[in-house]
Amino acid sequence: MHDCETLAREVIARCKTLARFTEVADSIHRTFLSPPMRDCHLEIAKWVAPLGVTSKVDAAGNLRIAYSADKVGSRVPRLLIGSHLDTVPSAGAYDGVLGVVIAIALLRSMNGRRFPFAIEVIGFSEEEGVRFGTPFIGSRALIGTLNDEVLKRRDARGISMGEAIAEFGLNSKEISDAALPDDVVGFLEFHIEQGPILENTGRSLGVVEVIAGQSRLTFRFIGQANHAGTTPMNLRHDAIAAAAEWIGAVERRAKSVQDLVATVGAIKVKPGVGNVIAGEAELTLDVRHQDDEVRNAAVDYLIDEAEHIANNRGLKVETAELLNQRAVAMDPFLSGQIAEAMQKVGCEPYRMVSGAGHDAMIMATKIPSAMIFLRTPGGVSHDPAESVRAADVAQAIDCGVTLLEQLASSSKFLSLMPRTQRA
Ligand code: HGY
Ligand code: MN
Ligand code: MN
Repeated sequence: MHDCETLAREVIARCKTLARFTEVADSIHRTFLSPPMRDCHLEIAKWVAPLGVTSKVDAAGNLRIAYSADKVGSRVPRLLIGSHLDTVPSAGAYDGVLGVVIAIALLRSMNGRRFPFAIEVIGFSEEEGVRFGTPFIGSRALIGTLNDEVLKRRDARGISMGEAIAEFGLNSKEISDAALPDDVVGFLEFHIEQGPILENTGRSLGVVEVIAGQSRLTFRFIGQANHAGTTPMNLRHDAIAAAAEWIGAVERRAKSVQDLVATVGAIKVKPGVGNVIAGEAELTLDVRHQDDEVRNAAVDYLIDEAEHIANNRGLKVETAELLNQRAVAMDPFLSGQIAEAMQKVGCEPYRMVSGAGHDAMIMATKIPSAMIFLRTPGGVSHDPAESVRAADVAQAIDCGVTLLEQLASSSKFLSLMPRTQRA
């Protein structure tokens, strides 16, 4: 049995190794089926080779590592444990990756021991939505919602998702083979909190109760480019000035509603030079809340406000919805098991909301899913300063090993017959 502290140090070192596989020198940037993603797969395959597993990459680019049960047969349930291997640009070394590497540490901790259920470690191919503007590509393949429409989406270089899959040596016609097998009865995701709550309350781990819903949209303000020197202020249809007024409305709305967050993360302007009044401004909007009605009401208000501002200034505004993901509750039974395991390892099971989206919210639409959060020092994430504490990783591994022991002797869990065999 490996001690958790040793495994934790190895987990952190391995996350730093995977951070070296990036599309951009001197920062972590790894997107859907980019060449560094293959380097990730090859490195992880080396780590798991001694563990008596079989590994493959499915047609959606998910890394799938199967660890069989103590017996074979069709009535053996399977537990998925994992997270995503892609990153945002200029990312930290732990968002997503930590959940895959901790899952592998749990397999290592078993020293070849098998449980009455199979385990599959999964490294999702794309959760952030950076390359094709749509998130959760890997986990959507597992629940069967990665349709042909999505495969036609093109990246900044004009490459379609289907072409990217083919370039990686995979066959998008086989995506349906990536779907969840019937024997999968649950999904577990370890992930950094990516916020300040655990740190501010002096806790190392948290149990996620609900993952906040999220809306992602683009707003394009269309005005009239003109000369900065000759155009009087009252004759302008300035797209940046309209966007600025609207961004103020976004922030005021979010500040006025408890727990609502709204972010304009990117703005592209045309022509984008100092002596020309901007003719166009395209902005992103990201709105999150654990109550879908609150979130949707905020989005409706901000669409109306954009139209109001545009009309007042003689501009047009076009909006496009990229994502409308409802809030998703985690599975009460699995979360209860996590809470019990946390107490056994000396950790108060602090139940909390996840402001960040996760693959667990996609998986939860098909199978019982649960998440274990680790403290994020400084509350900083989606940034190179993102970090974890070795002691927290050790406690998460200890909690994970304890949880697997619990599930192995839980008649309720083992009776979660594979979905086709359920009465
Ligand atoms: O943006 C998010 O919620 C997550 O980091 N994908
Ligand atoms: Mn992220
Ligand atoms: Mn993540």
